[in-house]
This record gives sequence, structure tokens and C-alpha cells, in this order.
Amino acid sequence: MSNLPPDPDAPFLRACRGEATPWTPVWIMRQAGRTMNEYLELRARLSFLELCERPDLCAEMAVLACERLEADAAILFSDILLVLQPFGFTLQYVEGQGPILDPPLRAAGQVDALPEVDGGTALPHVLEAVRQTRAALRPETPLIGFSGAPFTLASYLIEGGPSRAFALTKRFMYQDPGAWHALMEKLVRTCAGYLQAQVTAGAQALQVFDSWVGCLAPPDYRELVRPHMEALFAALPAEVPHIHFATGAATLADDMLVPGVDVLGLDHRTPLAATWERTGARGVQGNLDPCALLAPPDRLAGLVDRVLADAGGRPGHIFNLGSGLLPETDFEQAIRMVAHVHERTT
Ligand code: CP3
Repeated sequence: MSNLPPDPDAPFLRACRGEATPWTPVWIMRQAGRTMNEYLELRARLSFLELCERPDLCAEMAVLACERLEADAAILFSDILLVLQPFGFTLQYVEGQGPILDPPLRAAGQVDALPEVDGGTALPHVLEAVRQTRAALRPETPLIGFSGAPFTLASYLIEGGPSRAFALTKRFMYQDPGAWHALMEKLVRTCAGYLQAQVTAGAQALQVFDSWVGCLAPPDYRELVRPHMEALFAALPAEVPHIHFATGAATLADDMLVPGVDVLGLDHRTPLAATWERTGARGVQGNLDPCALLAPPDRLAGLVDRVLADAGGRPGHIFNLGSGLLPETDFEQAIRMVAHVHERTT
């Protein structure tokens, strides 16, 4: 606990602004869950959703993960799909299957029937988790708030769960673009309010996860998604940096850099330096293959070095994995990765 205000010049925040840093800042998507012993012990007693409804435990997990890793930023412990609950969908995480949403949204008429959800008030437990996490973090550690992006959220609603081809989502988009746009607009309004409220509650940066949007052809992205990302990023508080993340989205990177995006989050299939140069993004985040953490330590060090060499020490690089930490990962390997990034770049 500290009464000092959070440091606006923490290396992670400087990098988000494209400024030089004393070392390359690093954090890990999904750093709190899955592989940390303390998390697994909690999960033996509580379901993931029960955990998400306990701000004290969310704060404890987020802070503990960040401190054990010595990461340069903490991320709120929560999930991108929680925001779908106040729309009236039942969310479950089913072992071996992933997140399931019920009932699935399949008919255009269902969109009109969705309530208008005020993202600023609909999830008070999440905002309380932001407040408690901020209060428990050291002032030099920034807290990242987040939301799913409308496309990725809509894909879970329409598919009813995880998907490989996103066939039902694309059928919906193509068959009834009017209903699709109405759904995206609804989600934008809710997510914008939700993200704004996270900043008011204490987040120093925001990341928008469009995890699955890489399944789209670039012209479809431009027609059916990009206008909504423009609206979302335009509505976010300008006093904090904004990270726009997607996987498998090398061909979408230029279009993802809508006004208001400070940092592009890139995965390991996306060439970091070339994409940075081409798009002219202020900062880039990424992009080690999460499977690199399954390699022996010396091999891992080499793979980390390769990403650092690609970034070339340019101001604005935030080291991260290309997607979330895998459940198969040994947490010690994640600790080694962070230490290696710091050692090599200090
Ligand atoms: O440490 C952190 O990054 C904290 C919070 C966080 C979680 N999920 C916790 C979580 C964040 C930022 C997310 C984002 C998220 N959630 C994404 C985008 C990022 C990514 O990894 O691509 C997506 C697509 C989701 C949706 C979701 N939630 C999936 C696909 C799953 C996995 C289901 C499974 O069986 O593994 C979840 C569950 C989830 N979210 C867990 C955690 C810690 C695991 C829950 C458990 O213990 O079983």
C-alpha cells in the first residue's frame, strides 16, 4: 500500500508514448492466471467466475503475479467476457471446452431486444477490483485496464463459445449487415463506458483485445469492424495510452492503427520491425511466441534476444508474448523471461 500517486513516467508508460526508457518494459498477457501456484490453490476452492466477483482476490492475484515476475505493469485480473453478462447472457467456463455463452445470438431480431448496458455502472465488482489493485500496487507499477473489442465479443455471442472458422459470425455479418452494425454500435457504447470507468477507478493504460479479428479479410475489416474501432478509440479518455491488440492480424495492422491507438499489440506471426515501420505506430507490443516459454532456458534466452533484435532498441517497444501465457507454462520460465529482457536492455 502506498499513498503516493502512480508514477506517470514509469518505463511502460513512457514506452506507450514512444519515449526512451531505462530498459525495455515487459509484462505478460494472462500473467496472473493459470500457472502461478497461489492462483491454482485459489482455483481449487473457487470457480474462475467466483474469483472474478471477489475484488480482494482479483487484486491479490494481479499484484502477486506482477511482483513475482518483476513485470513493468500489472493487468487487472478479470476477463473480457464478463461485460456480456449484463446484456442477459449466461457465461460459463467449461473445463476442456472454454467459455460458453447462452443463449447464442443467432437472429437479427435478438439485437434489437438487447438492453442498453451502461458500462460505467454495470460491473461494480470489476471497478472495485481496479480500485483495490491500484491501492495495493507500488506507485511505480502502472495498472492496465482492458476490455474485449466489439468483434471478438460479438463472435463469442454469435458462436456461443470458441470457434475456429467463425462461420456463424461471418454469416451474420454478410446476411444482415444492418443488424451487425447495430450490435457493434451497442457493444462500442458499453465498452467505451466500461473502459472510461476503469480509468476513473485507477487504471493508467487501456488495452482492447480483438483476439480473433485476424480471421477477417482486410476489406471486411475495413467495412464491418474498423468504423466501430474508430468510434471506440475516439471515446476513450485521452489522458491514458491505448493499446490495440489482435492475433494473426499482420494484414490488418495498418487498419488497426485508428486515431487514438498509441500502441499496436502484435503476435508472433506478425513481423515486428516491418509492421512497426510500415504502420508508423508510436509503440509496438510483443511478440514472443508463448511456446518459447516451453523451451529450455538457454533456447528461451535466444528466442527473447531475437525479438529484442527485431525491435532494435527503438523507443516504444514493450516486450510481451504474442498472446496469453499458456497453461502448460512453468511460471519460473516466465520469471526468467522477464529477467532476461531487463538484463539485456538495461
Ligand atoms: O493475467 C491476465 O492477463 C489477467 C486477466 C485476463 C484473463 N483473460 C484471465 C483469464 C485477460 C486480460 C484475459 C483476456 C481474454 N479472455 C482474452 C484475450 C487474450 C487472449 O489470451 O487471447 C480472451 C480471448 C478471453 C476469453 C477467455 N477467458 C478464454 C478463451 C479463456 C480460456 C478458457 C480455458 O479453458 O483456458 C478464459 C478464461 C480465463 N481468463 C482464465 C484466466 C486466468 C482461466 C480460468 C481458469 O482458471 O480456468
